[in-house]
Amino acid sequence: MNTGSYIGGRWFHPDSKRLTRNINPADPSDVIAEFPSATAEDTLRAVEVAKEAARGWRETPGPERGRIIWRAADIARRRAEEIAQTMTHEEGKIIREARGEVTRGIAVLEYYAGAGFRIGGRTIPAEARDTFTYTIRRPLGVVGLITPWNFPWAIPVWKSAPALVAGNTVVLKPAELTPATATLLAEIYEEAGLPPGVFNLIVGPGSQVGNALVDHPDVRAISFTGSNEVGMALYSQAAKRGAKVTCEMGGKNAVIVLPDANLDKAAAAISSGAFGSTGQRCTATSRVIAHPEIKDALVERLGAAAAGLKIGSGLDETTDLGPAVDEKQWQTNLDYIGIARDEGARLVRGGKRAAGLPGYFVEPTIFDNVGPDMRIFKEEVFGPVLAVSSANSLAEALEFANGVEYGLAASIFTQDIDTVMRFIEDVEVGMVHINEATIGGEAQLPFGGSKSTGVGEREMSEEGLNFFTDLKTVFVNYGQSGKPSTIR
Ligand code: UN1
Repeated sequence: MNTGSYIGGRWFHPDSKRLTRNINPADPSDVIAEFPSATAEDTLRAVEVAKEAARGWRETPGPERGRIIWRAADIARRRAEEIAQTMTHEEGKIIREARGEVTRGIAVLEYYAGAGFRIGGRTIPAEARDTFTYTIRRPLGVVGLITPWNFPWAIPVWKSAPALVAGNTVVLKPAELTPATATLLAEIYEEAGLPPGVFNLIVGPGSQVGNALVDHPDVRAISFTGSNEVGMALYSQAAKRGAKVTCEMGGKNAVIVLPDANLDKAAAAISSGAFGSTGQRCTATSRVIAHPEIKDALVERLGAAAAGLKIGSGLDETTDLGPAVDEKQWQTNLDYIGIARDEGARLVRGGKRAAGLPGYFVEPTIFDNVGPDMRIFKEEVFGPVLAVSSANSLAEALEFANGVEYGLAASIFTQDIDTVMRFIEDVEVGMVHINEATIGGEAQLPFGGSKSTGVGEREMSEEGLNFFTDLKTVFVNYGQSGKPSTIR
C-alpha cells in the first residue's frame, strides 16, 4: 500500500523531519507505517493543484462525475475486506464494526453517485413581467476536509463524495492516527477515474496542514469533524476570511428510560450505544436517565451486558470491545473514571485498564448515582464509560438531558405516544431516536447536532450536498418594450 501524501495524482514522501507514526492501538509495538509528515508548504501546493484542476472538473457534467463515484463504490465493494482490516489495524475498532462502516461508506457513495443526475435548482415565478427567474447550484471550487480517526473511512467518504459530485476539488486532511484508511480512499478514487488534482490527500499535523487549509484564501469551504476545542477555533479562524464552514463536534448523548419501557431492549441498545466502537463515537450513549421504579433492574441488565463483552484486539473475530485509539485517549478515559469516583458516583462495574493485554484497553465501565451536576454527566469522555442517573418524571428527565452544552443525539424508551411526541418536541438535539440506541446515521438522512455540537450545514443527504455548492439566482428578462418591467 502507498504511504505519505498524494497531490495531483502522485504519491510522495514530504521533505520533512517530523514523522507520522501509524501504530496498532491493540499492540503499540506493532508499527504499521512510519513516514514523513506533510507541512504547510505541501498543503499550499495541494491547494494550488486542486485549483488548477477545478475548472475541468466543474465542467464535467454531473452525471459523469456521479459515474466516477459509482465506480468508486464498486471498487470499495471489491476491496471491502482490505478496508475493514486496515481500519481495525490502525484504529482498533472491532472487525465487525469496521465491516459495517465500510458498507455504510459504500451506501454514501451510491447515494451521491445518483445525485450527479439531480443537482438542480428551482424555477420560481418573478414579480416582473417577461422575466424568467430560477436558481442553479454551482461548485464552490477548492474545499478542505478535516476528518477524525474514529470513523476513518465513513467520514472521509461522506464529506468527499458530495464535495466531488457537486464539482469541487478536494484537499483531505485525515487524522494522523489513521492515515492508511484514507490512503485506500485516495487509491479507490484514482482507480475509479478521478482526474489528477481533483482529490488530494495531505497527511500531517493540524498545526501545519489544518492551519494552512483553514487560512488559505482559495479554500472556499472547510468541513470538519472532531473535538469542540479544535472545531470552535477553526470556525472563528475561517470566519475571519468569510469561508463557509461546517463543524460536527462533541456529544453527551442521553437515553431516558421510563417505567413502561421494554427493559431488555433498552439495556441491549444502551450497551451497544455505550460500548460499541469503544465509546469512541460522537453519538455514543454516555448517559442514562432512568425512572427510579426501573433503574435498579436496568442497571443490573447493563452490568450483565458489560460483563459479557470480550475485550481484545479487534482483528480477532470474537472480540466485542477494542482498545482506545491511543495512549492519550486511554489516559482521558482513566482520568474520567477517577473524576467520577471522586465526585461520588457509584462504580457498578469496570473502572480499570484491562489486565493482561498489551494495548490501550479499558474495561466497559458503568457508574450509577450520577448527579446532573457532575462532570461525568456533562463532559464528553469518548470512551466506554456510562453514567446512570435518575429522574422522577419526563419533565425532570428532559431538564437533565438538556442541561449540557452538547446537542447531538438522544433517545427515549417508552410505549406511550404522548410521551414520545413531547420528547421529540422538547429534547435539544439534532438526532432523535425512539426505542433505540443514540448511534448511527444513514446516507439519505441529514446528520448533525445543535447547540455546541454543530455549526453550519448538516452532513449527508441533500443538506450535505448543498453545503458544497453556491446558489445563484438568475433573472432572464425577455421583454421587448425597453421599459423596466418593475421597480426593484
Ligand atoms: C454514528 O453514530 O454511526 O464522529 C455516526 C462521530 C460522528 C459519526 C457517528 N461524526 O462519531
